[in-house]
Amino acid sequence: MSSPPRQPEISAAPVITLDGPSGSGKGTIARGLVARLGWHYLESGALYRVLGLLAARDGIALGAPIAERDIAKLSALAARLQLSFRDGGVFLEGEDVNAQIRSEAAGERASRIAPLPEVREALLGWQRRCARPPGLVADGRDMGTVVFPGAACKVFLTAGVEARARRRCAQLKELGFNVSIAQIHRELGERDRRDLSRAVSPLKPAEGAFQLDTTSLSAAEALVAVSARVARDCNLPEISAGNFPES
Ligand code: DC
Repeated sequence: MSSPPRQPEISAAPVITLDGPSGSGKGTIARGLVARLGWHYLESGALYRVLGLLAARDGIALGAPIAERDIAKLSALAARLQLSFRDGGVFLEGEDVNAQIRSEAAGERASRIAPLPEVREALLGWQRRCARPPGLVADGRDMGTVVFPGAACKVFLTAGVEARARRRCAQLKELGFNVSIAQIHRELGERDRRDLSRAVSPLKPAEGAFQLDTTSLSAAEALVAVSARVARDCNLPEISAGNFPES
């Protein structure tokens, strides 16, 4: 099924989209913007990660190809999915599932579910309803191309695979996972390939997106560059990157 995305529902709230591969810095920059602007946050990768968690809980096999009846089950779960992001947590019907969706195994499950057009379609409406006043910062792979094509400001971040593997490894170690750069490097390569080559909503810059290579930038430098573009596109006063990243 490859029906074109429906037009987004009309929303008065401005949207900033940040897309890019894993480890490019989009989550860090998104949270920096949210803290400064006081806007809502949609971390769309968490949707696929939570669906992976629900699949594991339900014993749904995600080996390729995924069975038709399992695709139907996943789409039904996606259509009902209700998440909230607050205080650094990801809440699924009141349960904070953040710790359970951050492992590499959870990322792997998410990456097997993400190519399914039926699931992506089922998630569209909910994602679009996140665009509420005063505004939304949304990060992922297809925020600027498919989910919010009318966004006020679109950003696409890239970085070399070594830098991305180093960052992911540091993030995972901070969360208490025992991982090596070599392992993360291998997995990133495989996931990049899946994200770039899938038929539906592949990872690519939206037309007119501000593209930034963060390989040799600190988080603060990247936030300064993105903030300047956000202020211009969203007609906002200067956004200070001071005191970033917050501890
Ligand atoms: O950003 P992340 O690592 O949490 O994303 C998990 C998986 O979900 C990854 O394989 C890419 C996929 N994804 C997607 O296809 N579309 C999005 N908007 C966000 C994530």
